[in-house]
Amino acid sequence: MIRRAAATTVVLALAAVFVSASGRQGHAQDLSAGANAFKKCQPCHAVGEGAANKVGPTLNGLEGRRAGSVEGYSYSEANKRSGIVWNEQTFKEYIQNPRAVIPGTKMIFAGIKNETEIANLWAYLKQFGPDGKTK
Ligand code: HEC
Repeated sequence: MIRRAAATTVVLALAAVFVSASGRQGHAQDLSAGANAFKKCQPCHAVGEGAANKVGPTLNGLEGRRAGSVEGYSYSEANKRSGIVWNEQTFKEYIQNPRAVIPGTKMIFAGIKNETEIANLWAYLKQFGPDGKTK
């Protein structure tokens, strides 16, 4: 009886370890899925330490950044005047259909429709502070 209770405790403890490990894995997967989604942006955008403007501006420090505010990047008037501040909500709306949210933008990108992909992409991008280091 006592042995049996001990065995049950071990099983429960293992189950707890398994649940927390798979929880962590789920998080890591979001970020790696986000990094994978970012490949669609990479022809035009860089992010991370040492990122520079390309066809499009760097995406470092995007959370809380005003649209059209990256130093040394030549934006369209439409982007500069959009009045958008980038956060989870504005980003998710924009990336589904950039030209609908900023008519006249020079970002030529059809958009991403899949909500999970967008959520993973945002989780990936918001990690990077203005200096390109992960927060
Ligand atoms: C073909 C090139 C291209 C691709 C691909 C592209 N972008 Fe852009 N992006 C641009 C350009 C160019 C601008 C500047 C728009 C303007 O000034 O009108 C821009 C602007 C932006 C902005 C606004 C930045 C600011 O400072 O206001 C965000 C956010 C953004 N892109 C995110 C993304 C993400 C995320 C992806 C991938 C899912 C992506 N872009 C794919 C070219 C691209």
